[in-house]
Amino acid sequence: MDRTLFDVAKAAREHAHAPYSHFPVGVALRTASGAVHAGCNVENASFPEGWCAETSAIAGMVVAGENEADRRIAEVVVVAEPIDGRLVTPCGGCRQRLAEFGTADTLVHLTDPGGGKSRTCRLGDLLPSGFSMGDPP
Ligand code: THU
Repeated sequence: MDRTLFDVAKAAREHAHAPYSHFPVGVALRTASGAVHAGCNVENASFPEGWCAETSAIAGMVVAGENEADRRIAEVVVVAEPIDGRLVTPCGGCRQRLAEFGTADTLVHLTDPGGGKSRTCRLGDLLPSGFSMGDPP
């Protein structure tokens, strides 16, 4: 796992707005061009309106306006406190959102905030048979 990407995700986690769950999450993603985009969870008093860290990182990537070819997600780091000793994986909705801009081979690195514990997954393994309208537009 790329150390810079981890550091960016860890720093983003410090900015999480998680007053309801008290569970801050930080994400950093790297696109095909090498650009890095960070995200954190942004919760809301109306609970379902909250955004996951992956969602806000993807939004930042799209807003940055890279061209279609460059804004493919190559790699993602998720930083969160493990739950019952298990590293946190993206929720189902975020897996589908990552798949919109990634490939089955996009790497998803799951890490604890200290960086001492990590595991790398393929997006294709996290989201087998995800919905697709065919090749992205
Ligand atoms: N959360 C994320 O931001 N990303 C994940 O991968 C897992 C869960 C957030 C959503 C919510 O704000 C909090 O963690 C507790 O579920």
